Amino acid sequence: MLALTEQLLEIEQRLIPTGLHVFGRAPEEPAQADMLRMVASFDRPEAGARSLPELVAEGLALQPYSQLLDASRNDEQALRERERVDEMVAQAIELFLRAGTRAACEWLQREARVSTDDSGPVFMLLEKIHAELKVNQEADALVRALRGEYIEPGPGADIVQNPAILPTGRNTHAINPYAVPSEIAFTRAERVVNTLLDRHRAEHGRWPRSMALVLWGLDNIKTQGEGVAQALWLMGVRPVRDAMNRATDVEVIPLEKLKRPRIDVVMTVSGIFRDLFGATMGLLDKAVRVVAALDEPAELNYLRSHVAEQMHTDDCSFDEASTRVFSNAPGNYGTNVNFMVMDSQWENSATLGELFVTRKCFAYGRDARGHMIEGREARLAMDRALSRVEAAYQNIDTFEIGITDVDHYFEYLGGVTRAVEERAQVRPAVYLSDTLSPDGKVRSLEETVRLETRAKTLNPKWYEGMLRHGYRGVAEIENHVANTFGWSATADAVDDWVYTEVAKTFVLDEEMMNRLRSLNPHSARSLVARLLEAEGRGFWQVDDEMLNRLRETFAGLEDQLEGLT
Ligand code: BEZ
Ligand code: MG
Repeated sequence: MLALTEQLLEIEQRLIPTGLHVFGRAPEEPAQADMLRMVASFDRPEAGARSLPELVAEGLALQPYSQLLDASRNDEQALRERERVDEMVAQAIELFLRAGTRAACEWLQREARVSTDDSGPVFMLLEKIHAELKVNQEADALVRALRGEYIEPGPGADIVQNPAILPTGRNTHAINPYAVPSEIAFTRAERVVNTLLDRHRAEHGRWPRSMALVLWGLDNIKTQGEGVAQALWLMGVRPVRDAMNRATDVEVIPLEKLKRPRIDVVMTVSGIFRDLFGATMGLLDKAVRVVAALDEPAELNYLRSHVAEQMHTDDCSFDEASTRVFSNAPGNYGTNVNFMVMDSQWENSATLGELFVTRKCFAYGRDARGHMIEGREARLAMDRALSRVEAAYQNIDTFEIGITDVDHYFEYLGGVTRAVEERAQVRPAVYLSDTLSPDGKVRSLEETVRLETRAKTLNPKWYEGMLRHGYRGVAEIENHVANTFGWSATADAVDDWVYTEVAKTFVLDEEMMNRLRSLNPHSARSLVARLLEAEGRGFWQVDDEMLNRLRETFAGLEDQLEGLT
């Protein structure tokens, strides 16, 4: 019962984009309230503001909110207290929107004994954000850009990570790649890596000896390199900065301090990351070489042990055996796994893993003599490295985009998972972390697919929000179903009930099907076709009655599109 409540709360509290962003238009009031609530849930030292849930928990003399979150998983009292805090935070924000800062601060003082000295800075920050949310210069800025005029720069992130992204409609600037990973990113990464490794050990009885990591450019801009920092932590090294404060070297964290083995990591890096973070690719490659060369016992340094083993069995060089940073060939981007899945152009799933490796098997770094390696084809090295992988991982860094919103998560994390499965003869465990959730959660891929399905695809709040956008909204729903299918194709990570409920909600409900059909018959047909494909490829066990109804609906949509009805 507690576990169920915990899951419901988790779904409820996700920031669900209800509808698409309309260029040039400010978000609506309810969406603004959700955003403000999320912004207020984190400490904002730069604004002298503390997390509002923490302040309320403190005022009510409860345990710290972060502990309540943990405890509420198996303690009913804690769960009730957490709900009470959440409710008060929501009410305070509602009052703020209706009656202003002073009313909200006074209410919190009265009801939760939060001093106005503490709540003041929080609401000052919210006031600023609220005002900036209302102005929208996007259309203006576009016109100015087309005229070749100056556009003011602004940081790139989402609003929860960095409220300074407001006002929107500015020229997104990146960061100094030498500053990556930042101190904060390195500190945060330690916690996520420990949670990840603990979870794997609890489920599999031992540390993963080797992991595949997906690193993206935009994510590492937004988090100042949390993905990079996670890779460094897994290997057990920390970045070292030079006189100009550039992270150009690594320092080994002694095993006595690390208190666990060093994990072998295979990094598959996006083309955008490669273009933006050349120096960082060098840092990661250096870390691999330093760790692989340490004189440590094999059972405490998996990287060293794997490199030594490969040099012996393949009779190859240290350079060859320690290749771990892979991306596309220079000038190339993406894995194409998404296109192949979307077009249904594949015979069996091994093809998807092959395609991933063909696209991503280009090595980057420096060889033992210090010569730059910039995208040298290294297929065998990648095959070998992937064949040892026991867990694949990517961190999700934003509240706005999840693993079924875009096809890029399954093309990368799904693609590497399939490539590993072919080479290791067993599917690796697959994890994602929510680096933004206050308690730094790590979930399995299967859990994440379920959560996204419930919070978005099957959630009336989400799909009705989409349907308000008419034609485009139906396309978004269809996209979600196709991206979910992508997780079946690459990683067998979708439960039967997901497809069954999608069929019931969007196809077998006649009223809904008629809405979809009249708004966008092409996407409606693709959605039904995707469900039939899921059945046809064996990803979904469905009874004959439902299958027949799907086929009839599909035939009806075909007729409609061909102008027969
Ligand atoms: C990136 O930021 O590296 C990225 C963005 C979209 C898709 C894939 C990668
Ligand atoms: Mg795209």
